[in-house]
Amino acid sequence: MTDTVIRNATIIDGTGAPRFDGDVLIEDGHISQIGDVSPASTTTDIDAAGLVLAPGFVDVHTHDDGALINHPDMTFKISQGCTSVVVGNCGFSAIPAVTGDNTLDLSEIEASWNDLNGYRSAVEASNPAVNAMMLVGHNTIRALEMKGERRRPNDGELARMQGHIELAMQQGACGFSTGLVYRPGRWSDTDEVIELAKAVAPYGGIYATHMRSESDHLLDSVDEALHIGAEAGVGVQISHHKAAGPRNWGKVVDSLAKIDDAVERGARVTLDVYPYTAGSGPMIQYFDLNNPDPELAQAIQLASCPAFRHYEGRMLIDIANELGITASEAVQHILTAPDGKGTICIQHIMDEGDILTNLRHDRVMIGSDGIPDLTGRPHPRLFGTFPRVLGRYVREQGVIDLESAVRRMTSLSCDVHGLQDRGRVAVGNWADLVLFDPSTVLDIATYEDPKRESVGIDRVWVNGQLAFDTGRHTQVGAGRVLHYQQH
Ligand code: ZN
Ligand code: CU
Repeated sequence: MTDTVIRNATIIDGTGAPRFDGDVLIEDGHISQIGDVSPASTTTDIDAAGLVLAPGFVDVHTHDDGALINHPDMTFKISQGCTSVVVGNCGFSAIPAVTGDNTLDLSEIEASWNDLNGYRSAVEASNPAVNAMMLVGHNTIRALEMKGERRRPNDGELARMQGHIELAMQQGACGFSTGLVYRPGRWSDTDEVIELAKAVAPYGGIYATHMRSESDHLLDSVDEALHIGAEAGVGVQISHHKAAGPRNWGKVVDSLAKIDDAVERGARVTLDVYPYTAGSGPMIQYFDLNNPDPELAQAIQLASCPAFRHYEGRMLIDIANELGITASEAVQHILTAPDGKGTICIQHIMDEGDILTNLRHDRVMIGSDGIPDLTGRPHPRLFGTFPRVLGRYVREQGVIDLESAVRRMTSLSCDVHGLQDRGRVAVGNWADLVLFDPSTVLDIATYEDPKRESVGIDRVWVNGQLAFDTGRHTQVGAGRVLHYQQH
């Protein structure tokens, strides 16, 4: 492997410390020198004058479990400067699985594995462009052990679910995730989740949660998450922190106050956010087919619609008007069609002010929550999240400074999710690095045209290997499925 010197860069080291100018030497996949690197004939030299060199960004909230195998070039992530992704969020993970069956996560790909070790082999065999860290999902293990049962688990079922979590932790997962609005996780009570979260405690893992409510009962849900963390003795990661629906806008201030309070009393709590006022997910999960919520129906745009491809990118209300039916009837029309259950929707339900509140909070990291279904028109967060924060919120609006934004894309993300020896430009660390132009970096993916790579990302290295080179995907595939390690 040739060694690389990145010269004259503006280094933002990921800790939040002020930027400084210098060179960085990459040797054997690691950062071996920072400062003035003397010339040598054996290295590739890159002149980075005017560019920022930072640790590679970590997308802490992804559903890329299947994409690492289906789309190992991971163009939508590497082109944003991401070098690692945390998978298994919202209670849906590609492990555990039954070999030969489809996984019980959003990708539903055929599994050639049943546990994390098997998944790691399958992913690494496909040479993904980025690294991955696993969370084991509640919806997945509950579906595996209890199908769709709407009741508490019996002792045997609970023990088997705990067993799945323990095995995943032993094999290197960083924690346990829930998606308590989704089926079947929503059929669980708080005690069940506490008992399961206890299984990650001996490994120092985290409890990552898409809470039971992100709308009318947001604050109760934060209380529940904090209670679960305290009872189980684990750190809590609140996923895509938001307040949905106009009557709830602004509540993120109160929920962050609750979290600050808990942190002051010794709790370990962190959060993630994506910088958009719309969410996205499997449409079937948000509606009662017998009685679709008309208010939500008004806010729906179709991302991926296997039953009616020509609806993709359109607002549901426009489709309803065209068909001469109500928006609620349009929900039924789409979801009951053959393949309708595979529909992914976008919900325009959040407030811009709440995004700013989240971005200003120093425990909030960045996670895209992108759903890598590339057949339709995915939510633009899949391609745009990180450059959008850097371009719109840091450069254009000055909501936070660049050092703070980078810290919450790198060192904080790595510390919480156990990506050891990454997330900082420091000697000895893995050379996961991004070089970008702070004066041009910007997302250009939109709801209308979402599969567009961002601008201003110059180069990206993963484990010391050049993965993205001035717009070109090098296809070196140096990513690994990482092991969580206790500090
Ligand atoms: Zn979620
Ligand atoms: Cu998610």
